[in-house]
This record gives sequence, C-alpha cells and structure tokens, in this order.
Amino acid sequence: MRVTITEIKEMKQKKEKIPMLTAYDYVTAKVVDEAGVPLILVGDSLGMVMLGYESTIPVSMEEMIHHTKAVVRGAKNALIIGDMPFMTYHISVSDALHNAGRFIQEGGAQAVKLEGGEVVAEKVRRLVDCGIPVMGHIGLTPQSIHQLGGFKVQGKAVEEAKKLLKDACVLEEAGAFAIVLECTPAPLSKLITQKLAIPTIGIGAGPDCDGQVQVISDMLGLYTEFVPKHAKQYVKLAGEIKSAVSSYISEVKSLSFPTMKQSYTMDDSILDVIASEAKQSKSK
Ligand code: KIV
Repeated sequence: MRVTITEIKEMKQKKEKIPMLTAYDYVTAKVVDEAGVPLILVGDSLGMVMLGYESTIPVSMEEMIHHTKAVVRGAKNALIIGDMPFMTYHISVSDALHNAGRFIQEGGAQAVKLEGGEVVAEKVRRLVDCGIPVMGHIGLTPQSIHQLGGFKVQGKAVEEAKKLLKDACVLEEAGAFAIVLECTPAPLSKLITQKLAIPTIGIGAGPDCDGQVQVISDMLGLYTEFVPKHAKQYVKLAGEIKSAVSSYISEVKSLSFPTMKQSYTMDDSILDVIASEAKQSKSK
C-alpha cells in the first residue's frame, strides 16, 4: 500500500521525522523506495541535474510527465509528488487544474507541489477541492530566481520573515498537506513549524522542520557543478563512476575485458557446420 497524505500528517503529530528525496528515473526511484523513503518528489530540479539546463525555468510539462511516469513505475510504496513547472499554474486556475490533473492522471503521481505563498492560495484551494493533494513551497523558490536575484537565503529581514510566516499559514488554510521551506533561517523555520498543524519539509531550513528533503544527485555526489551549503554528500558517486569508467576503458584496450566469464559458448558441431559453409562460399 502506498503512503497517504493522512499518514504524512500523522507523522508530524507523532513527532516522527519525515525523510523526502527527489528521484527522476525508474532505477533510482526503486532503490529510494526500497530503502524506505515515504515521500518522493519528482522535482523540477531535474532540469538542472538530469537535463543540464542552467535553471529550472525551461522545464516543460512533457519532461515532467515523462520522468514522473518512470518514477511511479519504480516506486511502489512512497507517495509520489509531481513538481509543477514554471508558468504551468501561474496564469489561471484552469491552467493549474489542467496541468495538475495531468500529473495525477497521465503521470500517476498522488500529489503535486507548486511554488509560492499567498499568491497561489486560490489555486491550491481549487486543486484540493478537486481532489488533488498539494504540497506548498516557500522561501527560496527557484522558479522566481530572477525576481529573487539569485540563490539566496530568504526571510532574514523582519518584513520578509513576517511574509513567509503569513504565506505558510495561508497555504495551510488553503488545504496544502505539507510545505517545503527552502533556504530559510533555522529559527524562522522552527517558528513556522511550531505554528502549523501540517508538516514542514526543510531544505537548508535547519533541523527543526518536521521533515527534510535533499536532491538525490546532491546527496549521492553526482551533480558536482554546484554543491549548495545545505547539501550533504553521503557518497561521492561522480568520482566512483569516473574511476569505474577508467578501469573499463583500460581493460577494453588491454584485452582483459571481456573474458569467457562474460561471453557465451555454442555447440562445437554447430560451429563446424557454419565454418565449413563459410569456407565453401568464400572459395566460390
Ligand atoms: O525541484 C526540487 O527538487 C525541489 C526541492 C529542492 C524541494 O523543489
């Protein structure tokens, strides 16, 4: 049975921390799911870490649906959240409904995430009313990177902090089942977490959030172009992969790979027939 939003909300009540990870493909989703992560986000961060874009802004619905389907096939237990790309929920409630509906119906996700506070509250309410669970996302919202002026911590000044607290309350009131806090000062995240009945999931938001999320490519040390302060590399896979590939190259060149261990045999009598036929056709 898949994890439900009710179970996620209960985890906060039971003071049980909620680990969440991103995944973008079948094999990774399968491993993450088998390891026991209850929430998997098909983040639009895939634009940067899987597709090589400079930001999340160019990511399209088609790309998100393609990756969401793969993750849903791989993960059988976790609740899968599809991240709504830039401009797929900003223009109208009807756009938001149409695109969120695609994540659920075509992608097979169980929930969607969208960035913003009060400004998206009406859309959150309508999605929830239509039966689509919504995760909010405030603080550093990468889709607004040009407006924010870069990847910066949010909520250090009084007015900014007040606005974030208000945004969190408005999202809860609109029906969000959880809220991502990205790059907010730890004491402010704690305050927001205490104020809300729904779980907060932090990334660069300190230890007092109800849950934590990491971009899988950061925690596995796969995406090395930019390593954010809040990312912890549990393994350095990019280096390990490079050294495995170097070994492969040198083994192929030195004829030590493949050996008969990685090869297939055939019956000698069949080989004799083929070889003699080949010889005859050559002599004609
Ligand atoms: O796209 C993403 O991976 C995210 C997480 C950083 C929360 O939004």
